[in-house]
Amino acid sequence: MSKITILSGDGIGPEVMEQALRVLDAVEKKFDFKVERSEHLVGGAAIDATGHPLPPETVAASEAADAILFGSVGGPKWESLPPEIQPERGALLPLRKHFGLFANLRPGVCLPALTDASPVKQELIADGFDVLCVRELTGGVYFGSPKGRHEENGEPVALDTMIYKKSEIERIARIAFTAAMGRKKQLLSVDKANVLASSVLWRETVIEIAKEFPEVELSHMYVDNAAMQLIRRPGSFDVLVTENLFGDILSDEMAMISGSLGMLPSASLGQQKDDGLYFGLYEPSGGSAPDIAGQGIANPIAQILSLGMLLRFSLGKTEAADAVEAAVAKAIADGFRTGDIATGKAGEQKVGTAEMGDAILARL
Ligand code: NAD
Ligand code: IPM
Ligand code: MN
Repeated sequence: MSKITILSGDGIGPEVMEQALRVLDAVEKKFDFKVERSEHLVGGAAIDATGHPLPPETVAASEAADAILFGSVGGPKWESLPPEIQPERGALLPLRKHFGLFANLRPGVCLPALTDASPVKQELIADGFDVLCVRELTGGVYFGSPKGRHEENGEPVALDTMIYKKSEIERIARIAFTAAMGRKKQLLSVDKANVLASSVLWRETVIEIAKEFPEVELSHMYVDNAAMQLIRRPGSFDVLVTENLFGDILSDEMAMISGSLGMLPSASLGQQKDDGLYFGLYEPSGGSAPDIAGQGIANPIAQILSLGMLLRFSLGKTEAADAVEAAVAKAIADGFRTGDIATGKAGEQKVGTAEMGDAILARL
């Protein structure tokens, strides 16, 4: 039996996870399979209970599983701890690194019924917004050393290092080209090659890998221009590949073009296994949303769609994954809206986290 580890974490994490697990119950029944689940502590919740954001037993349970379904971590309560033991740097980043999850897929899709919720002009997304961001996740400035702070002549100095090995760029480029082959065969590589040495190597390497994928049309853009063009002509993108920090920033922008950060799921994958599946960590692209946590109003869709990606990439349950995505699209088409995607227009029904879960379950 397939095994998954559930790490709900902090803030809205447990609230949206509850809805994703109800959806998992329902697809297990509908498609007649069973997944062994075990829940473990991570992030601030783990600090409070054990003093450590990533307890060894959480890592061990995840090693024994086929995938991790992750909520979100962090919040004001833990922000004044030493950076290395805060939930983000002490749990989430080490999990990504430990499992070699170098490929972060973030599909930014504005559902046809949700164009109203997007802040961009309606005519710009009339033909749809459907962009896959392929973000490198275990390299770049997040992990480069040296990193830290010290004093120079009595003054505090802090530094981070943006560093890439060619092999790290090659493997993420292959993932992105392969994804483009399954879509419109257009790949945009985003870098800052006019300033950064790591971006010069990035661009060179992506151009080399392009020879393996002659059918894909490759283009390049500097990250500042890309941030602008996403708003100016959102309908013209297909697959975008970029380094860790640029992908972090651009994917939040893509989420908002789709209507809300609460709509954007993600899959963080390592090397493909012989059976074609991946070990992966699946999480909403957004965070623990402390401003709305505990109120039952968070949008559970990013978490539910992350479960969909888990079913697809780690368990090979394609039909179940398709059903989850279709049920979400149907609930949106039928007018159900959490606060983040509500526009107040006629035909909408404003709902909380659990009611959105109900609406999706009813359409499975
Ligand atoms: P955030 O993503 O938590 O929130 C940004 C804004 O988006 C907030 O207004 C929030 O209410 C809204 N939002 C996010 N998800 C939503 C949802 N599902 N439904 C409705 N609205 C939603 O970003 P932040 O405020 O910068 O960070 C808060 C904490 O989360 C920090 O500790 C940060 O480090 C952490 N964080 C964790 C992850 C993760 O665990 N993967 C990701 C991003 C941020
Ligand atoms: C994300 C988050 C994380 C990141 C943080 C919480 C470490 O913003 O998954 O997008 O920067 O990767
Ligand atoms: Mn982010």
